[in-house]
Amino acid sequence: MTSIVKQKSTSSAMLTEVLEGLQKPQKTLPSKYFYDKRGSELFEKICTLDEYYLTRTELEIMQHNIREITSTLGKHVQLIELGSGSSLKTRLLLDHLDDIHSYVPVDISEEFLQNVTRDLQKEYPDLLIEPIAADYTKPFDLSESPEGVKKLFYFPGSTIGNFTRQKAADFIGLISNLIQEKGGLLIGFDLIKDREKLIAAYDDSKGVTAAFNKNILVRINRELNADFDPDQFKHRAVFNEKESRIEMHLVSLEEQSVTICREVICFEEGETIHTENSHKYSLRSFREMSAPFFENVQTWMDDEQLFAIQFLS
Ligand code: AVJ
Repeated sequence: MTSIVKQKSTSSAMLTEVLEGLQKPQKTLPSKYFYDKRGSELFEKICTLDEYYLTRTELEIMQHNIREITSTLGKHVQLIELGSGSSLKTRLLLDHLDDIHSYVPVDISEEFLQNVTRDLQKEYPDLLIEPIAADYTKPFDLSESPEGVKKLFYFPGSTIGNFTRQKAADFIGLISNLIQEKGGLLIGFDLIKDREKLIAAYDDSKGVTAAFNKNILVRINRELNADFDPDQFKHRAVFNEKESRIEMHLVSLEEQSVTICREVICFEEGETIHTENSHKYSLRSFREMSAPFFENVQTWMDDEQLFAIQFLS
């Protein structure tokens, strides 16, 4: 079995970040903590919903353009996937990349990484897989690639949308440093579109997204010894026009207090915890952000222009 390079323990970091967020005037929680086992399952379910056009659209774009995409990416690449949750898209790349050097999945969840690695290794017995358990929103170590091997970062799924614009720009800068002259970044992001369609994608009729949002409280209860009553919070998705982003909140249904590892957090009725941002870009606003770091851009989109995939180099 492939061993996982682990960067550091995350549970004390989680307590610090959770308390910090809940002590702000606008309470927040880091959206990366959605993805425990249950949260990852709920997210997989979201990806199959009619209203959630993102996943199937990105996959369609990949399927329609895979030859052009992989020939643009080149030979002998080390494919470094950040937040390796997107098995179908990854397999498309693995199937079409010319003489791939290795696959490096980077994910915060070690358990998840173990499963992905085991499954992929079975399907691709000759593929060199080098998983890294790390929070890729913070700088992490990567070994030098061998001579003639390009580092190719893959960041699909519009995960970049979770970052504020400033953080997204910093992140793109960080990646450009890691790849230096050669290599590149293949990235998927969601495009600005009408508000109804956007909101429906984050407030689906089956309530899966609501369950996904509330699950973060269940996780905090379990892992940080807290006593949230998830039934006393309601899911809300809004489109913040000014910031061009969907925001998910958990609205407190009553005045209440919650204890987290001996700290007490008070809620007024109607007060919200801001749990996620999902930024939407135009091709122009995304280019503005990447231009300082990357000279070349290639873009692939669906016919309706719901979603975009770009190769930055
Ligand atoms: C995984 C961050 C791309 O923002 O669309 C889906 C997460 N949240 N439904 C997104 C999510 C609610 C998703 N990303």
